[in-house]
Amino acid sequence: MESGNFEGVDYWTKKLSLHLSSHVLHTIFWTNITNKKNDPTGDLMKRIEKDFGSFDRMKVHLSHHSKNVDGNGWGLLGYHPASNRLMILEVENHEKLTVWGIVPLMVVDVWEHAYYLKYKNKRADFVDELFNYMNWDNAAQRLDAALKLTK
Ligand SMILES: [Fe+2]
Repeated sequence: MESGNFEGVDYWTKKLSLHLSSHVLHTIFWTNITNKKNDPTGDLMKRIEKDFGSFDRMKVHLSHHSKNVDGNGWGLLGYHPASNRLMILEVENHEKLTVWGIVPLMVVDVWEHAYYLKYKNKRADFVDELFNYMNWDNAAQRLDAALKLTK
C-alpha cells in the first residue's frame, strides 16, 4: 500500500479473503463434529422451530444446500443479528455468497478434499453421514455467544 502497488494490494486482499475465511470456517468445523450424538436444545431449538418449522425441516434445508453448493464450498447454518433470524447459506469457496454479519453456527465442508478419499464423488453420501456427527451443543454455544454480543 505504501508504494502504491494497488495491483499487489488487490491480489493479496483476495488471497487474504479466501485463506482467512478458510481458516475461520475450518476452525468452526472441527468443533462442529462429535462422536456423541445430540440434538439442539434451548434457544437454538426454539429459533430453529421458529425460522424453519422444525429440526427435521431445517436439516432437510441444510442438507439440500450443502449438497447443492456449486463447486467447492460450504453449507452453513448461521445466525444473522441484523434480521434476528437463522439462515442457511451455500458458500462458494470459503467466502463467496455469504451475508454481512452472519455468525456461523454449523458448517458443512463440501470441498472435495473433505470427502473424496472415502466417498469419491458421492458428496451427498458424505453429507448424509455427517449429520450423524453434528455437535449441536457446540452450535447452541455459538448462538448463545452471538446473542450476548448483539444485545
Ligand atoms: Fe476443508
